[in-house]
Amino acid sequence: MRFLQYCLAFLALMTPMLEEAAMAASKAPLVIGHRGACGYRPEHTLASYELAIEMGADFIEPDLVSTKDGVLVARHENEISGTTDVAEKFPARKATKTIDGQKVEGWFTEDFTLAELKTLRAKERLEFRDHSHDGKYEVPTFQEVIDLAKKQSLAKGRTIGIYPETKHPTYFRSIGLGLEAPLVKALKAAGWDKADSPVFIQSFEIQNLKDMHAMIDVPLVFLYDEPDMRPYDFVVANDKRTYADLTKPEELKAIAAFAKGIGPWKRLIVGENPDKTLKAPNSLIEDAHKAGLVVHPYTFRNEARYLAPEYKGDPEAEYIQFFKLGVDGVFSDFSDTAVKARDKFLKK
Ligand code: G3P
Ligand code: CA
Repeated sequence: MRFLQYCLAFLALMTPMLEEAAMAASKAPLVIGHRGACGYRPEHTLASYELAIEMGADFIEPDLVSTKDGVLVARHENEISGTTDVAEKFPARKATKTIDGQKVEGWFTEDFTLAELKTLRAKERLEFRDHSHDGKYEVPTFQEVIDLAKKQSLAKGRTIGIYPETKHPTYFRSIGLGLEAPLVKALKAAGWDKADSPVFIQSFEIQNLKDMHAMIDVPLVFLYDEPDMRPYDFVVANDKRTYADLTKPEELKAIAAFAKGIGPWKRLIVGENPDKTLKAPNSLIEDAHKAGLVVHPYTFRNEARYLAPEYKGDPEAEYIQFFKLGVDGVFSDFSDTAVKARDKFLKK
């Protein structure tokens, strides 16, 4: 009898604590491993995604482009000379193309079969980051990223989601290699095609998100580039609205008809002055929340060159500012720092 009383007393004590922990977890902003953990490994490699998972990222983020044979692979750009050894391996394949209205010279994924791309090795894109892993890793397919997230979810005992982005969707559609159908097909085959699947699909263009809204139930996220720019599908359609225009409350309401969230460049929330000091935060987070949209700004980076003077060289200070402002997640090159900052934020 006494034992039962102890148990009941223990439960009474624990229940509010457990409820509080569950509530904190449900409010916790997501850490999205931007291009994996690309502060430490060449971006968009399985090693980069694995490290982000190891560091506690909730989602890993593959940017997607197409091969010549219609396979989705993870690269930030279809021009891959900055992130692979393609120039050394296929010198004769150099080409000049117009991508989203810009002339680009280099080597393009759509000119290579998957078998050819698999002979390449990734390298670090930025001169000031670690180059000791150059030459080690392949260009992964989207399927390999899905497989990794599922395998690691089992191994870690927690769900690791994926956050694929369609890169240059209008361009790829124009050359007969549309990204949407293979993306949706892969997610359906993975059983990740429901509203509550651990997936967000993101794009800087609107039309492909609207199309996918009719094809699959997973949450969609509209990305915002610099304020004066326009989504490239708007450029093609002669729609004059800029990304800045699309932050207005009535536009957010329209976006909420097909998307569950927005991914703004962080300077669209906390602007900066010409001397790089920060402006006061605006109402974008609040406006988006009022429209029913989650807010996942990008990109958070540790290096001093990316930090505003107010943070005094401390990258955690930047995360904590945005967490306090109410963001629902952050794209980070350094998932370990993001997780550490989130722990501090949640303990306060
Ligand atoms: O997708 C969020 C963020 O990744 C957008 O920027 O250029 O790194 O793909 P980008
Ligand atoms: Ca991206």
